[in-house]
Amino acid sequence: MTTHFSDETLQSKLDLLVLGIESSCDETAASVLRYRGEDDVEILSSIIASQDEAHAPFGGVVPEIAARAHMQKIDGIVEQAMDVSGTSYESLSGIAATSGPGLIGGVISGLLAAKGLALALDKPLLAVNHLEGHALSPRLAEPCPFPYLLLLVSGGHTQLLSVNGLGYYTRLGSTVDDAAGEAFDKSAKVMGLGFPGGPNVERWAAKGDPKSVKLPRPFKGRDHADFSFAGLKTAVARAWEASEQTDNAKADISASFQRAVSDVLAERTGKAMAMFKDMHGDNAKRFVVAGGVAANKALRERLTQLATSKGMSFFAPPLKFCTDNAAMIALAGAAKLAAGQTDELGVKARPRWPLDNAAAKANPASGYGKKGPKS
Ligand code: KG4
Ligand code: ZN
Repeated sequence: MTTHFSDETLQSKLDLLVLGIESSCDETAASVLRYRGEDDVEILSSIIASQDEAHAPFGGVVPEIAARAHMQKIDGIVEQAMDVSGTSYESLSGIAATSGPGLIGGVISGLLAAKGLALALDKPLLAVNHLEGHALSPRLAEPCPFPYLLLLVSGGHTQLLSVNGLGYYTRLGSTVDDAAGEAFDKSAKVMGLGFPGGPNVERWAAKGDPKSVKLPRPFKGRDHADFSFAGLKTAVARAWEASEQTDNAKADISASFQRAVSDVLAERTGKAMAMFKDMHGDNAKRFVVAGGVAANKALRERLTQLATSKGMSFFAPPLKFCTDNAAMIALAGAAKLAAGQTDELGVKARPRWPLDNAAAKANPASGYGKKGPKS
């Protein structure tokens, strides 16, 4: 007798349990996630060890310190994630780890841990692009059907992507120099506000006047959706030097800087929305912001207004899914596994790994060098 399964039956049979590992910047993280389809995701554990304290004295992430910390912490964090999830190593369907882009020492630590587990347990290895993790992250909180426009704003990345489908991304814009979070961190450092800069700048900004200091809006009106933040950062340094360097100056410069970044991100996103609508027509309905800078309330408000004015729905996932975490890596790994895309144990860690390779090569907005395009 032959048994026939409809697509629906096959879909309902999908039940994957994936361990994810993240170590590409300054968070060592592990997570176990159950995946029964793209709109049926359950996070069983998500453990994150931040290295903020180790990097704080330097006002930024120091790669050597990060790599050592990842190596020391990774085994314990994985064990904790397994414990909290209440599942066993044997029951895992696959092991996912960030294999780029990022600080190479950290990426190697996490990827090696995943390779060791995959080998010992004889389970599939899933080498995940960190940016793909961010791109799929809204699905950790709620179903988010393709396609959607994603603004990814973190300490390492500032990009606008059309998320068309798994493994299918179109880069609409990218920073040509610093990431938005980097601009927050460096501005905070100049004014001595502490690390990480974003939350401190936001706190000071609440007490200042956003119109008090004139700052540039790089690329405003340009007919593309790229960003530039280096000039803004320099303008903040100049304004600080020229000021009385009082608490009032800290508040006013922070408020003016935050307003400038929000203006730039909203204006550039507006351009990308038009491109996204050209690509997807009536299907261009959703806009998502993710990454650490998406925690900024003034920015969220600004982007909400923008989306409403353009007739798009707006979604900012909870902060724990915006900043670096391993649940998004487990999710991307599970989606790859469901699509039959597993990796060899010999897969390499990659400091650079654009999601849209063609666009990164044709228009190397950031970091195109001997090793190839970064974003
Ligand atoms: O996504 P994330 O945790 O790590 C990566 O860089 O991948 O983002 C960290 C960045 C830092 O630059 C931090 O200053 C910024 O996000 N950030 C903020 C806020 N909270 C974190 N920027 C502006 N406002 C905030 N409230
Ligand atoms: Zn990230």
